[in-house]
Amino acid sequence: MLKLFITATDTDAGKTYVAQALVSALVAKSKKVAVYKPISAGCERVNGALINEDAKLLQIQANCQQTIEQVNPIAFEPAIAPHIAAAKEQREITLTTIEQGYEEVVNLGADIIICEGAGGWRLPLGNGKFLSEFVQVTKQRVILVVNMKLGCLNHAVLTYQSIISDGLLCVGWIANCQEDMPYLTENMAELTALLPIPKLAELDFESDIAKAAQKIDITKLSTLL
Ligand SMILES: Nc1ncnc2c1ncn2[C@@H]1O[C@H](COP(=O)(O)OP(=O)(O)OP(=O)(O)O)[C@@H](O)[C@H]1O
Ligand SMILES: [Mg+2]
Repeated sequence: MLKLFITATDTDAGKTYVAQALVSALVAKSKKVAVYKPISAGCERVNGALINEDAKLLQIQANCQQTIEQVNPIAFEPAIAPHIAAAKEQREITLTTIEQGYEEVVNLGADIIICEGAGGWRLPLGNGKFLSEFVQVTKQRVILVVNMKLGCLNHAVLTYQSIISDGLLCVGWIANCQEDMPYLTENMAELTALLPIPKLAELDFESDIAKAAQKIDITKLSTLL
């Protein structure tokens, strides 16, 4: 079973977009793919249940018949830092809850689990804990999504270095070019030199996930599959 964790240089960088495309690419290759979005903040209340858009989008692409609660066990209504949302409700986000939810997904026996983080790599959970500790405990391989915009070189290198110093394997990065960036070619070349890992895709603005999926070079992950 291949366990992949999708992180990014920032919130709104394209984690869900890339995760959807990756799931789509793998399902197209007849893989059994499960998804996990442990924590979400920014949910709609539907019949008393909190439903997160990212979780829904991932659930739709995957092919393991997961319930939305299984995809996303920890959900908060306001779109704010999750540990602050938790504190407002006198709740705690524990690594145990996140790990137990992941164990349930692991038990589905998928070929691949695609897990989307929240925010960036060092997302605080409160009480001095970070979401990255869950990735360490579960030994997931990490994919870094870089939102190609001014400031991304610093964010990408810091994130990559943090992943490595946590003792984890970062198996590739994806350039998400959702907006026009001045000197994109030069920035792309710089990042390619700075990040000693394969670039799995360069994604342009594209609303069709199936088309974005075709641009991801999953053969570069084939040694892991
Ligand atoms: N390459 C792209 N082409 C078209 N739309 C994109 C692209 N990348 C991202 N988007 C859109 O930009 C928005 C932000 O992307 P996305 O939701 O994937 O970010 P995220 O990193 O998952 O954010 P969050 O931290 O909130 O989970 C979404 O509406 C998404 O569909
Ligand atoms: Mg997202």
